[in-house]
Parts: sequence; C-alpha cells; structure tokens
Amino acid sequence: MIDILQQLRVDALSTFSAVQTAEELEYARVVFMGRKGRMADAMKELAKCSDDARREAGKTANEVKNVIEGAFAAAQSRVMHAQNDRRDTEEWIDVTLPGVMSNMGHIHLTTQAIDEISRAFSHLGFVRAHHPEVDWDYYAFESLNMPKDHPARDDWETFFMADDDTVMTGQKGKVVLTPHTSNGQVREMEKGKLPIRMISIGKCYRRQSSARHLSMFHQFEGLMIDEHVTVTELKGVFDHFVKQYFGADRATRLRPYHFRFTEPSFELDVSCSVCNGTGKMNGVKCKLCKEGWLELGGAGMVHPNVLKAGGIDPEKYNGFAFGWGVERTMMMRSGINIDDIRTLYKNDLRFLSQF
Ligand code: PHE
Repeated sequence: MIDILQQLRVDALSTFSAVQTAEELEYARVVFMGRKGRMADAMKELAKCSDDARREAGKTANEVKNVIEGAFAAAQSRVMHAQNDRRDTEEWIDVTLPGVMSNMGHIHLTTQAIDEISRAFSHLGFVRAHHPEVDWDYYAFESLNMPKDHPARDDWETFFMADDDTVMTGQKGKVVLTPHTSNGQVREMEKGKLPIRMISIGKCYRRQSSARHLSMFHQFEGLMIDEHVTVTELKGVFDHFVKQYFGADRATRLRPYHFRFTEPSFELDVSCSVCNGTGKMNGVKCKLCKEGWLELGGAGMVHPNVLKAGGIDPEKYNGFAFGWGVERTMMMRSGINIDDIRTLYKNDLRFLSQF
C-alpha cells in the first residue's frame, strides 16, 4: 500500500510541475484529485487493508494528499501568473491614447422645421396640440362639411385601413390614415374649451408618390376660434409667421380659393426670394416661381357647419383655420434645391448631414 502511495506522490509532483495551461491543470486535477481519481482510488484500497496496515499507511496517505494539494496550488498560481503575463503583452492597451469619437447625429431637418414652426406660433399664444394620425372618416371629412360621397373628397387621395380586404369601420365611419391635419379641427373643438388657439403638427398620408409628392408628409394646422375673429387676424398671423420663419423682407398674399370647410377660403402665397416678388430675373421669367409668388397652403374662415359639428354656436363664435405642408414650407425657405422631395426620407447620411 505504501508503495502505491509513494508512486502516487511521485507521479502527482511530476505531473503538476509540468502543467502549462489552465486546461492541463484541470485535467491533472481530475486525474489525481477527482472523485474517481487516483487519490480516491488509493483511499478505497486503504479501506480494504487490515487494521495494522491501515494505521501504518494512513499517515503516508495523509501526507501524500497534502503534497498533492500543495502541488496543485503551486501549479495553479504558476498558470495564473503566466496567463496574466501573456495578457500584459498581448492585450496591452495604451490608456493615454485619445479615444475614438463615435459619430454624432442630429435631429432630422423636418424635425428642426417642426420645432421652429411651433415656436413661431407660440409667440402668438398658439398651443401645440396632437391629434390622431389614424382617424375616422368623420373627423377627416364628414365633420368638415364633406358628406359621404361628396366629390370634394377626391382632392385627398386617401388610404383606408383594411383588415384583409375589408375596410375597417368604427363608431364614426371608416378608418383612414389622415390625409390632412384638418381632422384636428373638430377634435379640438370637442375638448369644449374656448377660445381656441391651436397649432397641430402631424403626419399626413396620401396615395401619391412622385418627385414632388410624398405618400407620407407633415402638415401644420392652425385653428383660432373666438368672438369676432376676422380675415384681418388670419392675415396678421400669416404675416407674423412668414416674417419669423422666412425673414422680414418677405411679403404675403391671400388668393381666393375653395375649401368645403372654410368660407371664404384662400390660398396663401409668400413672395419669392429668388426674384424678390417681381417674377423676373434679368428680364426673363424667374425660374423658381415664374410670377413672383410661391404658394404656401390653404386657409379660410371656419365654416358654420364645422363649428356646429364641434358643438360651437356659429352665431356667437367664429374663427379661421389654415393647413400648410411642413416639407414644402421648409424647402421654400432654405432654397434646398433637390429635384426629388423623396430624398428627404431616404436616410442617406451624405444628404442629411448637410443640415
Ligand atoms: N386641409 C387642407 C389641405 O390639406 C388645407 C386647409 C386647412 C385649408 C385649413 C383650409 C383650412 O389642403
């Protein structure tokens, strides 16, 4: 028995001292110290010995066990140090080197424009409101004095929400992706608080896509309802916005137009920055506007039927509304000359990082 133990000691010492890596160390540990390892085997043999033999060999067994544990600990610390040394040379980093800057982004130019637009109106007490971008037909059309099947609806090429092929309908008619932000008009009136000075900026969707049209774009909708509101106020608010956003030297113009939800209705124009509103550049027609004016969008005095739909007495209150496209407005100012408006949303950083 003692011979077996001595041999075990010799083998363990030579094995552990030769160990180089963590894997080899683990392997040696299992062979010598594991539950079914050589030390455990020796202890089993020892148990089978006669009392005398066991007493004699027991001491040696204990010594050998201690020696093996010591050899293991020594090997373990050697392997660990070797590993650290290797890391120090192979994975060395210079912490004093300047770091690698990550790319800094910035908000999209449309979002910048939205912020500026809402700021310009907030000076006049217009409060930003948010209304659904998926809404019922009622708010998008019907409450705006456009009854079902009215041909005026054709001006808004509308997306309808459908489940399989069935157009979704709810409490207030079909469900649409809002083709304009005017759905916010009656929704705002329904809140029941007067007077109203609202600026609502949101996404609009129309079944269109071309170099000049986006299927998703943004509008900002203004609504002012109070006693004795006149076209003069509309013109004043429009003027203020144009001077704030485009510059003090730009002039404005109201042109008669037609919308079902305003009466009278207008289209609002801003003087062209290229030809200074003259329509001519060096004796030839201005290339940008051709006539001195650029069209910004629609507006008008809120139709009595719309006020009624919003629970407001048209005998007592009136007001104006306007709806203009954010992308159009922003491009008119900056003179961003892109031949395809869809470039705005192609997420090409070479384009976006310029603004
Ligand atoms: N909603 C109209 C459009 O999308 C614009 C508009 C808004 C006109 C408010 C008048 C009043 O064309």
